[in-house]
Amino acid sequence: MAEQIKATNITWHHHTISKEDRKKRNGHGGAVLWFTGLSASGKSSIAQALQEILFEHGCQAYVLDGDNIRHGLNKDLGFSPEDREENIRRIGEVAALFLDAGFIVSTAFISPYRADRNKARTLCGERFIEIFVDCPVDVCAVRDPKGLYQKAREGKIPEFTGISAPYESPANPELVLNTAELSVEDCVRKVVEYLQTRGIL
Ligand code: ADX
Repeated sequence: MAEQIKATNITWHHHTISKEDRKKRNGHGGAVLWFTGLSASGKSSIAQALQEILFEHGCQAYVLDGDNIRHGLNKDLGFSPEDREENIRRIGEVAALFLDAGFIVSTAFISPYRADRNKARTLCGERFIEIFVDCPVDVCAVRDPKGLYQKAREGKIPEFTGISAPYESPANPELVLNTAELSVEDCVRKVVEYLQTRGIL
């Protein structure tokens, strides 16, 4: 997928409202909480529960969710390695915009390739927080809320992550949430504590 800028005669415009202005207004700094893990590992559930708590506390919070984004912005993409790379590239860009706008934005995408996640990290900078939602594939397959593992095992879904396509675990994530053992509430608590230790909340 080409990454060069194709347009010519374009100029970068600087914002007249600074990061500090936004932080003062919001009462918190921005961050990208990059949830990564297998399908049915719990990424979306944790991200949504966290969003509710942040929202109740008056934070600017938003969730970008794989299944939802694939209905719109990324509906032209499938699940080949190239399409997944482009999926994550676009989400990295969108997350960086939310960060710039001062939000605590959570992304809930499998994002199976380490290199693609690292590109998003480079783009977003030090407020990129990689959260590995760690759950064995067998546990995800038992949960199987969408019936996809069953279909994948029957050969009805090609390139299904964890079954017939790879998942590369993060090498150095900021946080690991073991969802085979922890409840959604426990996981949310751990993320909130982490945000507090980083001075984001
Ligand atoms: S990613 O690999 O490109 O990051 P993304 O998070 O956007 O994936 O989408 C994953 C969701 O798409 C899964 O939770 C599942 O509901 C659905 N899905 C459909 N086909 C596949 C597939 N081949 N592999 C993984 N997930 C799939």
